[in-house]
Amino acid sequence: MPSQESRLVIRRGSDVALSHLPRVTLSVVLTFTTKKWFTFEPTPIYIYIYIYIYIYIATTNLQKLKVRGRMKPKYMMISFFIIFLQFITLSNSKSIIKNLPGFHGDLPFTLQTGYIGMGQDDSMQVFYYFVESQRSPSDDPLLLYLTGGPGSSGLYPFLYQIGPLSFNYESSKGNNITLELNPYSWSKAANVIFVDLPVGVGFSYSETIEASKSSDSIVAIQSYEFVRKWLVENPNFMSNALYISGISYMGIIVPNVALEIYKGNERGNQPQLNIKGCLIVNPLTDKFINFNARFEFAHRLALISDDIYESTKATCGGDYVYNDPRNVLCTIILNGWMSVPLIKISNGQCTSKITYGNILERGCDARDMEPTCKAYTDTFIETWANNKDVQKALKVREVRIIENWETTNKSISYDFKKNDTIVYSYDVWSSIPSHKQLLTKNCQVLIICGDHDMVFPYVGTLKWIRTLNLPIVSPWEPWFVRSQVAGYQMTYARNGSSIKVATVMGGGHPLAAYNPEEALVMMDGWLSSHAYLSDS
Ligand SMILES: *[C@@H]1O[C@H](CO)[C@@H](O)[C@H](O)[C@H]1NC(C)=O
Ligand SMILES: *[C@@H]1O[C@H](CO)[C@@H](O)[C@H](O)[C@H]1NC(C)=O
Ligand SMILES: *[C@@H]1O[C@H](CO)[C@@H](O)[C@H](O)[C@H]1NC(C)=O
Ligand SMILES: *[C@@H]1O[C@H](CO)[C@@H](O)[C@H](O)[C@H]1NC(C)=O
Repeated sequence: MPSQESRLVIRRGSDVALSHLPRVTLSVVLTFTTKKWFTFEPTPIYIYIYIYIYIYIATTNLQKLKVRGRMKPKYMMISFFIIFLQFITLSNSKSIIKNLPGFHGDLPFTLQTGYIGMGQDDSMQVFYYFVESQRSPSDDPLLLYLTGGPGSSGLYPFLYQIGPLSFNYESSKGNNITLELNPYSWSKAANVIFVDLPVGVGFSYSETIEASKSSDSIVAIQSYEFVRKWLVENPNFMSNALYISGISYMGIIVPNVALEIYKGNERGNQPQLNIKGCLIVNPLTDKFINFNARFEFAHRLALISDDIYESTKATCGGDYVYNDPRNVLCTIILNGWMSVPLIKISNGQCTSKITYGNILERGCDARDMEPTCKAYTDTFIETWANNKDVQKALKVREVRIIENWETTNKSISYDFKKNDTIVYSYDVWSSIPSHKQLLTKNCQVLIICGDHDMVFPYVGTLKWIRTLNLPIVSPWEPWFVRSQVAGYQMTYARNGSSIKVATVMGGGHPLAAYNPEEALVMMDGWLSSHAYLSDS
């Protein structure tokens, strides 16, 4: 029971607070402290300061409202109500998007965009696109989808690969870009988050120089922090089965994200995440094996002759890309059929005109403006995303409304043999050790390979999986879409963990861009086959 005197002190305090501390300042302080609390930073001191300030404000407000008497429980209730209000206000950093420029009418699916504040004092603001499952959002799994690069925006797979919308290549012209629905969107079977990570990619930004620095291993840790905070903001999806997925370079990072999550759960981090596995498309897993696999692949697909193959193999000793320049003979032979580095442009006469992303695709030039030319249609995204109306419709913050939105941040993206940049370090050479650890965590892994992808050919994937010496539980066999052979699959398993590898016949590097139906059928079938695990 407070004495007369202490009540007087409280009342004096309230006068001081109300006359000298403008409401705005208080609200800023409170938002800051709440943010700290709800982002689960390990700073319990904030919680105390926070509760103290709230009770204080609640009581002073009551004094102002001329509520008298000793009503401590009521103060408490009111202060908790204010906490609740504050929480609601915070959630406003996410928005449901109803319309998008270029798409006629309301979007027939639920699209949410928003920012998640991460790192010290939320100095990283990470933008994401979330598409709710169009089947059963509460039962279907939740996929965190990481784009390749690294350094490519989540908007790219959203619009060109597995998202609910794609460009209408025929009718889009100049600045008039039109969108249509993708009948094979992965949102037909899963809830999918596309994220712009690390900061500097897409619409994500950092408030400090320090926060703009990243690396393969940091992106893995950031992805874990991201998904944890996203789930705190979207608790409806907390119990859905969670899969980490991605494509291409993310094969280096996805297994590490999953591992971070398993380890975080083991440490008792809250919230506990319902992680079940990984789904990776045409992954780079090991920078030695996967780049070298191009040579083997070129031979298997008849791009180089048996003679060249045999003599190069004998001379180069199994290393065709990092070969010692002192091995002159090897270098000369290699330059004859394929230049080093083995990427995109090449002088080697055998493979220089081949499209690495899909060896069956005819070469084309963006300037020809043919709707069938990928190099041309790939330019639509930058035209569209740089439109101010689009950025406003996506609820991009004013501070990040930009004129030079780029699909890929070149100071982050990787090329064969590229050195670290000022902002990014390519510090993971191989994620095979992480796969080994995942095999002890009850983790299910699916790897889908387009069998005509020469960026990271399937032969490399088969090769590194063999190094794990896993028992085969389901041998190499065809799988089907509409009674046609769609590709081949095999599954390895040990101690409750599994790795399944599936090829898609005729598939290229951006798999779903060439084989959208096959990609959806494989991912949905595989996820459903593990559905029983979600109950555990
Ligand atoms: C944009 O293209 C669509 C489809 O071709 C067409 O209906 C529309 O009139 C065009 N808009 C403008 C402003 O040209
Ligand atoms: C690329 O990322 C870096 C690091 O965050 C950033 O400083 C730079 O502005 C980004 N470039 C573009 C074009 O957004
Ligand atoms: C990377 O750095 C090394 C050593 O500084 C240098 O010799 C090499 O040429 C660089 N590579 C590229 C691709 O810039
Ligand atoms: C088998 O899996 C369990 C978890 O499911 C794990 O604790 C254990 O270490 C694994 N054993 C081996 C030999 O990998």
